[in-house]
Amino acid sequence: MRKTQDYYFKKAKEEGFPARSVYKLKEAQEKYGFLRPGQTVLDLGAYPGSWTKYVARLVGPKGLVVAVDLQRLECVADNVSVLQGDVYDLEPSDLMKISLVFDVVLSDMAPKTTGRRDVDHFRSIGLAGRALSFTQEILRPGGTFFCKVFQGEDFPAFLARCRSIFKSVRVIKPRSSRPESVEVFMLCGMA
Ligand SMILES: C[S@@+](CC[C@H](N)C(=O)[O-])C[C@H]1O[C@@H](n2cnc3c(N)ncnc32)[C@H](O)[C@@H]1O
Repeated sequence: MRKTQDYYFKKAKEEGFPARSVYKLKEAQEKYGFLRPGQTVLDLGAYPGSWTKYVARLVGPKGLVVAVDLQRLECVADNVSVLQGDVYDLEPSDLMKISLVFDVVLSDMAPKTTGRRDVDHFRSIGLAGRALSFTQEILRPGGTFFCKVFQGEDFPAFLARCRSIFKSVRVIKPRSSRPESVEVFMLCGMA
């Protein structure tokens, strides 16, 4: 188990990514191919910038990544726009000043873990719900929502909410995610 995590940590370092979390998104992208050149992508919980860097390369010079985090993310490429702040203070209108619609909304947001699984779960559900609310306002028809969530008591209700909004909903546990972690990723599509 430990060995696997060391493997992804080392790989991220070698490939120039600031965090190994990039491989969770990469696995989903390689299987489902929802990120494409020219897209406008919202990246919620972007610090330290692995997903942002990976997506900026995929969308290319005609695309745009809007990266949001509580922590200051150093601009990682010319096609990245950085917003430092709390998603609970941010409004969809703030994002619409940058782009009226987004092709993909990503959320890797996670609360500071407390060690209490129920508390961490409820906070994660709160963040995922906030990401979903943004998505409902700004995602173009046919767009994709990819979001991390910690499983627990309220997970079935969150899954049901996603199923009521999207045409397709997949729950993904990437190989690069620690097996003992309760995190999973929702891959939701409008089309
Ligand atoms: C697992 S890290 C993201 C890693 C990133 N995707 C990467 O690949 O480098 C989770 C991030 O969520 C951010 N976060 C947590 N609560 C947030 C909030 N209320 N608003 C904005 N960002 C938040 C944290 O600051 C943290 O940087």
